[in-house]
Amino acid sequence: MSSLETNALASATEEAVTDYILAQEEKDQLRFLTCGSVDDGKSTLIGRLLYDTKLIFEDQLAALEKDSRRHGTVGEDIDLALLVDGLEAEREQGITIDVAYRFFATDKRKFIVADTPGHEQYTRNMATGASTADLAVLLVDARHGLMVQTRRHAFIASLLGIRHVVLAVNKIDLVDFSEERFNEIRETFEQFASGFDFETLVAIPMSARYGDNVTGRSENMGWYQGQTLLEHLETVQIGEHELNQPFRFPVQWVNRPNLDFRGYSGTIAGGVVKKGDELVVAGSGKTSKVASILTPVGEADAARAGEAVTITLEDEIDISRGDLLADATARPDVADQMAAHLIWMAEDALLPGRSYLMKIGTRSVTATVTEIKHKINVNTFEHVAGKQLELNEIAFCNLAMSAPVAFDPYEANRSTGSFILIDRVTNATVGAGMVWFALRRATNIHWQALDVDKAARAESLGQRPAVLWFTGLSGSGKSTIASIVEKKLHLEGRHTYTLDGDNVRHGLNKDLGFTDADRVENIRRVGEVSRLFVDSGLITLVSFISPFRAERQMARDLLQDGEFIEIFVDTPIEECKKRDPKGLYAKAEAGQIKNFTGIDSPYEVPENPELVLKNFGRDPEDVAEDVIRYLRDNNYLLSPSIVSGGGGI
Ligand code: ADX
Repeated sequence: MSSLETNALASATEEAVTDYILAQEEKDQLRFLTCGSVDDGKSTLIGRLLYDTKLIFEDQLAALEKDSRRHGTVGEDIDLALLVDGLEAEREQGITIDVAYRFFATDKRKFIVADTPGHEQYTRNMATGASTADLAVLLVDARHGLMVQTRRHAFIASLLGIRHVVLAVNKIDLVDFSEERFNEIRETFEQFASGFDFETLVAIPMSARYGDNVTGRSENMGWYQGQTLLEHLETVQIGEHELNQPFRFPVQWVNRPNLDFRGYSGTIAGGVVKKGDELVVAGSGKTSKVASILTPVGEADAARAGEAVTITLEDEIDISRGDLLADATARPDVADQMAAHLIWMAEDALLPGRSYLMKIGTRSVTATVTEIKHKINVNTFEHVAGKQLELNEIAFCNLAMSAPVAFDPYEANRSTGSFILIDRVTNATVGAGMVWFALRRATNIHWQALDVDKAARAESLGQRPAVLWFTGLSGSGKSTIASIVEKKLHLEGRHTYTLDGDNVRHGLNKDLGFTDADRVENIRRVGEVSRLFVDSGLITLVSFISPFRAERQMARDLLQDGEFIEIFVDTPIEECKKRDPKGLYAKAEAGQIKNFTGIDSPYEVPENPELVLKNFGRDPEDVAEDVIRYLRDNNYLLSPSIVSGGGGI
């Protein structure tokens, strides 16, 4: 064997050993979640695990005995569920209402358990608990067998990438420790779950209340030869998946204390990295090799998924927060569109076309759902059509981002393959997504650079193009004012065009009605069209109710600073009703028209409009003059004489 080959072999063995040691370290912690329907005994089970692993202290025990007597759900026995159900409100109702994390340990492993609620409306809590779990314990009551919730939880667990499942057939004491009943439940579940991608699926008969087969073997079930729950939790093999993935490192910040040092800090989201490995900056495609790996306890030769490190590279390349460093030989997707499963977590429905903030890894971009392909009925798994997504619903969607981002399919990496959506107005997290695949369609379409550009067109027209966006209630006078403004502009030789709600809804938008979803799409299209008109150099007047802040903001974001002039036509609704030019308020109040703005559909008043027009008790000509004055004062109306080139004077 040549010395070159010997060296290669030595380093290959070394690598294998490093990988092995890293894998062993990963194994000593198991994250799992428990779920089931109300009353299946989740909290009792967790209480039992904590109790038996001796993590309850004397004073807690004394308090527990007292509480058990007060709440009295299990007679004179200690109610272990009280230990876990931390919230007083929950205790009174006898249900669990939020995700709670508990820690316990045995000499074999450390455990983090997420206790998630079981009843109908809390899909989002389960999703929160499940997204980082290695294993799910699904509880069923032996008397009732599989419930709709059990199926739903199994489905969500599989959707969230949990590969190990325990079916805990609880309260077996209440069916006389029946082997037959246990087998019946186990077989039904195995059949049902065969379509899911679980690596291990183990059913265990138990009584959490009395401790049978939870931590200690049951004396009442001679027929059961399998492991107790704790034995299984201590020995089930997990963690290889994360380590065998290609290396992924979302850069959290660039650490540059002085000119001689430039490191990239973050938490490794997949795989293993070693000194000398070739990495790529996913977005730019630039590559370099790992020069050093710094950990909180000093320099290391290698690091693995889950560790927080600072990496330095051999070359100076452009990397900033939000970039994804990856194994150069197994690169992630980089795209501005994707298909993904989305779990909706907000009271306000998801509306396709509305723009949200997407956080994916350490990157933030704006994103819209361009299409809901189908919703999934979480109880029957049927695909159903839908135009919007309500709280706790799940859908398969296409999304478009404002810029290309790097990601993996969720199946390959649960960290780089997941994202959250944030409401841009309230800042609340409203959705959680799991990437299915990147969509490449649009990457072949580029902006065509044209020789005659907006500036050239505007100059020859002698004006600064802009959108005058009139928003307000139906009957507030938007179109009346816009029409007078346009006439005045026209008289002084300005080039204009008006997009009016009633007119555009006869053509371009005649497929749209007045649901929230349709109004979002209505405004999205008008926003895009008005951008084109501004690009053509025109002063564009838009007269739409445009009731939602989010879409007015979106229309603003399509344009450059100063090009969007939001004009709130502020007329009290009582006055609009009195005017009622089309008789629509009367009809809406009589219940003949549904979703009428101001009656049974909301109008969100602009917070920072450029102009507010009090259009009540004033001559419309004067009101329109306010707009002209605004344009003149802010230099939108250049005097033709100072226009150079173009058509001359
Ligand atoms: S928007 O809300 O989507 O911006 P848009 O301005 O296009 O509305 O259309 C509003 C016009 O449609 C109103 O001026 C009115 O004439 C008519 N209309 C018919 N039904 C409704 C309704 N349910 N709500 C509001 N406007 C309606």
